[in-house]
Amino acid sequence: MQDGRTTLSKFLIDTLDRRPSPHAGAGLSALLIDVAAAIKQISSALTRGALGGHYGSAQTFNTNGDEQKKLDVVTNEIFVQHCEWDGLLAAMVSEEMDDVHPVPDKYARGDYLLAFDPLDGSSNIDVNGVVGSIFSVLRRPDGMAEPCGEAAFLRPGHVQVAAGYAIYGPSTMLVLSVGNGTHAFTLERDVGNFVLTHTDIRIPDDTCEFAINASNERFWEPPVRRYVQECKDGRIGCRERDFNMRWIASMVAEVHRILMRGGVFMYPRDFRTSGLEGRLRLLYEANPMSFLVEQAGGLSITGRERVLDVVPRALHCRVPVILGSRNEVERIGRYHREHERGEDKPYTSPLFNERSLFLPEASA
Ligand code: F6P
Ligand code: MN
Repeated sequence: MQDGRTTLSKFLIDTLDRRPSPHAGAGLSALLIDVAAAIKQISSALTRGALGGHYGSAQTFNTNGDEQKKLDVVTNEIFVQHCEWDGLLAAMVSEEMDDVHPVPDKYARGDYLLAFDPLDGSSNIDVNGVVGSIFSVLRRPDGMAEPCGEAAFLRPGHVQVAAGYAIYGPSTMLVLSVGNGTHAFTLERDVGNFVLTHTDIRIPDDTCEFAINASNERFWEPPVRRYVQECKDGRIGCRERDFNMRWIASMVAEVHRILMRGGVFMYPRDFRTSGLEGRLRLLYEANPMSFLVEQAGGLSITGRERVLDVVPRALHCRVPVILGSRNEVERIGRYHREHERGEDKPYTSPLFNERSLFLPEASA
């Protein structure tokens, strides 16, 4: 480009079309441009806020039992319309559609599969908080019969050929990986271009910041309780430094902060959910985010295994997620292993040990 800036199209042509990767194949850049077009339209709809007439409930429920907001339905439709016509996709899966959506017969079908969460963090919509969209691209397995059904999607996240999210904050950004690092583009609204602003993002290995919905503490497993308690004990505890906590209730916003400055995000297994599955959906939340985090040098685990190695059991299955700065995620994984081996002692916070100000004698 003459002004030295790299637009999303230039980035994709340089990275994919001029140096094709063995996994990606032809057409991926065109598909990602269509995804970006959907994101621009969603960004524009969200910017109108209450004036757009899309606030409030749609009076329907998705397959996970979550109440759908009007904007969940509208943004899902925007994704479908922008991506089903181009001859590159075979089928789609979305948080807001119960079943696989095969590309309709009136359009050509291609070799890619798209899984997406069109509006992540939708409890933030009506309060004008940060929301996002998340997407994951797979290649259709060779030799699979038409039209693609569930089996095509039920593969571990390490087979993804591209993953990304859009964050609709004060600015709209698209964060993307096609397997050669994680890169971020900022939407230049008046021109309509995504411009590369963050090349090869690296998550710092260490951090003093964690994110978890602490209201669920009573349902957590012991390794997560231990980790969070140690963080909260700060410099008087075994970590010997103070930690900060954040919770935005949008996975996109949490992951974005971690990509920008490090941190750990946890939505762990808990005893509320049957089967201890966790809250986040594997295909269109945990997998794409884990791909981006690993491509930026971080880690993403369920507590017991790498998220990208989990074989999905169902389209909308959930999984525990612990991701972010490498050394902290490794530590939490170790706490899980120690717990399984019965090696973790019941944790006593230094707030209540013999040197504490909170001892009954001291406060008497
Ligand atoms: O999509 C699920 C999600 O909204 C995530 O974006 C977010 O991290 C989480 O759920 C918020 O959960 P809670 O309602 O427990 O705060
Ligand atoms: Mn979501």
